[in-house]
Amino acid sequence: MSQTLHPTKIDIADNTRAAMIDLLNARLADAVDLATQMKQAHWNVKGPSFIALHELFDGIHAAVQGHVDNLAERITALGGTARGTAAVAAAGSTLPAYPLEIHSGAEHVDAVSGALAAFGAGVRAAIAEAGEAGDADTEDLFVEVSRDIDKNLWLVEAHAQAES
Ligand SMILES: [Fe+2]
Repeated sequence: MSQTLHPTKIDIADNTRAAMIDLLNARLADAVDLATQMKQAHWNVKGPSFIALHELFDGIHAAVQGHVDNLAERITALGGTARGTAAVAAAGSTLPAYPLEIHSGAEHVDAVSGALAAFGAGVRAAIAEAGEAGDADTEDLFVEVSRDIDKNLWLVEAHAQAES
């Protein structure tokens, strides 16, 4: 992706900054998409576990919004331009589309856990890529995001890991 690299006194080489900005923007698109998917689940889930799932999905949305902000601001710290609009996310997200005609708690647990797992896999790959590029701070940010996504995946999947 051609991009404007703003001048900065940061001691990270231009080619490393450019690569990390592209990597961060790719995961930013996924994260913006993921945030909207969590609200979609928050609004539309129904059934006997409604209130637990409704609140859980909203909490995950809030956590993901925090990750969106941190990813975007790492991009700008590296002298890049954060590409964080819904339109960019819609064009660039690698996540599966969230199913619109599902209603039960079990269906939303499956869809949300699938979205978190897909996002988490992309972030885990980004950890390795940032590490190989020698940008320990971007690597650390991805580690932080990854650990939180794994935890939230557990909080969602626990609803499906036993009958009662
Ligand atoms: Fe709400």
